[in-house]
Amino acid sequence: MQVALVGLGVMGKNLALNLIEKGITLVAYDKNPHAGEELLSCAKSEGLADKLHIVSDLGDMVRRLEAPRSILLLVPAGELVDAVCSELIEAGVQCSDIIVDCGNSNYKDGINRKLKYQNKFEFATMGISGGAEGARHGPAMMASGSEGGWERVEPWFTKVAASYKGESCFARVGQSASGHFVKMVHNGIEYALMQLIAEVYQLLRHGTGRSPKEVAEIFDEWSQEHLNSYLLSISSHILSLENQNNVPLVDLIDNKVGAKGTGLWTAQNALELGIAVPSLVAAVQARHLTNVYDTTAAQEMTYADRATTKVEIDLVELKDAFTLASLLAYRQGLALIKGASRTHQWKVDLSKTLQTWRAGCIIRADYLDSVAQGVEFIDTLDKEVFALRKITGQAMMTGLAFPVLSSSQTYFATLTTPSNGHLVQAQRDYFGEHGVKTHTGEVCHLTDLVEIDAKVR
Ligand code: 6PG
Repeated sequence: MQVALVGLGVMGKNLALNLIEKGITLVAYDKNPHAGEELLSCAKSEGLADKLHIVSDLGDMVRRLEAPRSILLLVPAGELVDAVCSELIEAGVQCSDIIVDCGNSNYKDGINRKLKYQNKFEFATMGISGGAEGARHGPAMMASGSEGGWERVEPWFTKVAASYKGESCFARVGQSASGHFVKMVHNGIEYALMQLIAEVYQLLRHGTGRSPKEVAEIFDEWSQEHLNSYLLSISSHILSLENQNNVPLVDLIDNKVGAKGTGLWTAQNALELGIAVPSLVAAVQARHLTNVYDTTAAQEMTYADRATTKVEIDLVELKDAFTLASLLAYRQGLALIKGASRTHQWKVDLSKTLQTWRAGCIIRADYLDSVAQGVEFIDTLDKEVFALRKITGQAMMTGLAFPVLSSSQTYFATLTTPSNGHLVQAQRDYFGEHGVKTHTGEVCHLTDLVEIDAKVR
């Protein structure tokens, strides 16, 4: 099997080595010749160079490949994807060739590109997660679409992807560009889980006075049990690191958090689709808030009392609250995927989606097995529900900020307790005559309700 790969950055280089190791003959290209040289030298040192051909331009790449061709793009999302596609068209790709965009592209671009290139080649999309390590040894691969050409590459991707209990973490999750939507939501959940862990650390450090090392030990203990996850274990490791003067390495890092955009897209899409993902949105805004510390607005907030209050936290309750808040992040992400799939008629299979997240990706976690497609699974979590309520309350008492923890509690409470929406609807009708709907489905105004209710009785 012969495959071509364009883009030999960190992800591209590692995926290239993975593909060759699994038996694929690879034709690789990057516009920066040093990237090709580096891949070649890595392949040589791993004894994989005989199946690798580095080419110096896309024309050479297309000529070297036998038709029908299979070409993977691992170039930065945006205009570069179109630039490479145009060059490949000029170089002679044909209708039967498949080009798979494996970058962190916006799914909307994927939909447009499918139309744009429909008579030129088969354009397909696949989200890949797992960073450099995952790409090298087994990433999660969220593919989509039913383009001709998938049948050629699918068996190979199944081998290249990570596996969980013998099941591959490659799947075509749904139609059209839904793979990129699923990867986008994966990142939205990733933001929420990262922020949640940071908040638990914050509570333990500044709310109870523990050192980063002590927090690392607690995270490590949790990681030995059902809470084991990639993000928790790396956080434990990070917090255990100190310099030669015993200063925690985290204290040497500026607090401003960057972002490449997928978390923001998740939030934007959720808002547009009208699907509530408060923990995911809060995580994006938490990153934005880290960047306002030294703005004029922040400096103007000269409240006298900036002191935080120490609290007594029960570690078992904290673990339970963390468990539920984590599950709720997945729950919100899955609800968003389900809603988008309905709107776009993608037929996304949520169990296949979860299958791709079980290993290889950044949000992999042992407890993912217990994530169900509704709120039902939460029915069995009574003590976690109580713990989330109590810990959120205690956390707020410290005076510190807990955007994801409190949003998770808000999300759960809104889904499971009496709503106050009726009053808001009444307010809307009161000043805007927007109408209200009765329990029997009748639309009327607030002022008609007495009469209607009397009739029903
Ligand atoms: C992955 C990661 C990867 C990357 C994101 C998030 O699944 O391997 O999600 O895609 O880390 O780009 O990056 P930001 O935090 O910079 O938005």
